[in-house]
Amino acid sequence: MPIYKMGSDPAEQARWSDTIAIVHLLHVVGARPNFMKAAPVIRALSNRPDVRQTLIHTGQHYDPALSGIFFTQLNLPEPDVNLDVGSGSHAWQTAEVMRRFEPVLLERKPDMVLVYGDVNSTLAAALVCAKLRIHLAHVEAGLRSFDRTMPEEINRVVTDQLADVLFTPSEDADNNLQREGIPQERIFRVGNVMIDSLIRLLPVAMQCAKNGLPERYVLATLHRPSNVDDSASLRRMLTVLVEINDVLPVVFPAHPRTRQRIEQFGIDTGKLQFVEPLPYVEFLSLQRNATVVITDSGGIQEETTYLGIPCLTLRGNTERPVTVSTGTNVLIGQDPKLLNSELTRILEGKGKKGSIPPLWDGHAGERIAKVLFAALTD
Ligand code: UD1
Repeated sequence: MPIYKMGSDPAEQARWSDTIAIVHLLHVVGARPNFMKAAPVIRALSNRPDVRQTLIHTGQHYDPALSGIFFTQLNLPEPDVNLDVGSGSHAWQTAEVMRRFEPVLLERKPDMVLVYGDVNSTLAAALVCAKLRIHLAHVEAGLRSFDRTMPEEINRVVTDQLADVLFTPSEDADNNLQREGIPQERIFRVGNVMIDSLIRLLPVAMQCAKNGLPERYVLATLHRPSNVDDSASLRRMLTVLVEINDVLPVVFPAHPRTRQRIEQFGIDTGKLQFVEPLPYVEFLSLQRNATVVITDSGGIQEETTYLGIPCLTLRGNTERPVTVSTGTNVLIGQDPKLLNSELTRILEGKGKKGSIPPLWDGHAGERIAKVLFAALTD
């Protein structure tokens, strides 16, 4: 299926055209969870003289603690263009990425665009590509929580419908896509690309100083709108964490959204200690050494499963069911009783023992590069 044409940069092509066809791939990233997924793909493609890569940062996340430090630690190249979109409502942010991305795409004319995960930048870039008829690949396709109240679920469903090539992490993702009518020949199960970054940087994380951390502690994160945007939910979750903190110290790197809501709702968090959002390596180190992780993040459910650390997820569903069926993850919802009973089991050494799912082996980025190369040069 030779649907892809040669790269379009005349200078670049002239240099290689006698010997080789240059393919131009353009990656779009925007928010923290995109960066660790794009890095292994860019790395795997970077030593091919026949591939030219362009990196676009939408600017959805702009704080150095949520963006710049991740580029440094993951060894990502400087973005070729930063769209500097910033924060806003979902409609505003999505529309603004689209408005600013379209001229870049028209000017750069890549052979294919790669988008990652499920953030608003992913959806916005996918829509622009579809309207301009530019080939689109979605990395981390097929995940479904079946919960349309989550903005990420809408982003996943629409992006997958628009993508020409879908790279999935697991069998459940393949099944979801097939059920939604995506032709089998577009689906490539390559494994978990985020785990590539974890495996590469775990040795560095193991060198991190403990900085006075206790031997046993709970690592907590909370940032989903369903947990933090509702005053009663946030109050309930924080009350439980304050109680847990009396038994076992809770380390809580707080997302800007969570901090804003705590202030806005005037919630008393007692002796609970918040720290700033942490860089990738430092956070990995905290996960690796935690007794238990309590979270509502998607990526952390996967990272704890790989690390074999018990994870209690403050959501009623997950788009990553393999972390429950195979890994260390337990879904708690917003049920304080269940949280306490599961926590007790873990502290008594009776927590769930998981194993590492198939294809979480550090080579997903290479598999993606191989598929792309085969498709692009066919
Ligand atoms: C976004 C993603 C979510 C992901 C999360 C990781 C969507 C729909 N959501 O949620 O899937 O799990 O990133 O962090 O794309 N803010 C800052 N500094 C920044 C960026 C944001 O202070 O650099 C504040 C702003 O007040 C903003 C709020 O955080 O309004 C939320 O940011 P936004 O990007 O809209 O969504 P996240 O909650 O970060």
